[in-house]
Amino acid sequence: MSTVKKTKTTGKKPVKAPKASAAKAGKAAISNTAAENPSVADNGQTPGVRRRDFIHIATVSFAGVGAAAVAMPLVSQMSASADVLALASIEVDVAAIQPGQSIKTSWRKQPVFIRNLTPAEVEEANKVDVGALRDPQTLADRTKPGKENWLITLGVCTHLGCVPLGAAAGEVKGEYGGYFCPCHGSHYDTAARIRKGPAPTNLVVPEFAFISDTVVKIG
Ligand code: FES
Repeated sequence: MSTVKKTKTTGKKPVKAPKASAAKAGKAAISNTAAENPSVADNGQTPGVRRRDFIHIATVSFAGVGAAAVAMPLVSQMSASADVLALASIEVDVAAIQPGQSIKTSWRKQPVFIRNLTPAEVEEANKVDVGALRDPQTLADRTKPGKENWLITLGVCTHLGCVPLGAAAGEVKGEYGGYFCPCHGSHYDTAARIRKGPAPTNLVVPEFAFISDTVVKIG
């Protein structure tokens, strides 16, 4: 059975919509825009070109501002602050430190031990079989020529960073007469070399130099 629908005609001719191409519609849109913005139309340039130029210039301008805004913090970060520069090196007069005494000072926010070894402590350090050490170094490797009695190290255990005992009067010096770290039981000898316990290396000797007979510059 056919299911064709019948369309009811009215007898009037259908009204055709006016044909307008897309290009014409575009022109109309542009000319409308130009009409709304006379300054664009008056100089005889295509509005689209003007708009692109503006976008390009605006983008460059904002990029410039953005680069400057980013550069400023970087420059300020790169310039070291005065307190950091002040800590880059320190000078310590060690004249008052007697043989067998130590002092604690601070350099770059780390504790530093300065120790005036007794002749017995120097001898004790020098008679060790260096080849048997976990971190083989002689006392001479860790001090300056002619000043082997001045042992200068960071006061930071090389295991996990505790501050060892032994620099202050009355503190435990450990089984080898140097320093003892109570955190996990590391023992350092009179040259601050690791001898027992979990610390992997000797106490670190920072960069230093004697700038006079009694003044040492660290850093
Ligand atoms: S931090 Fe010194 S022994 Fe662990």
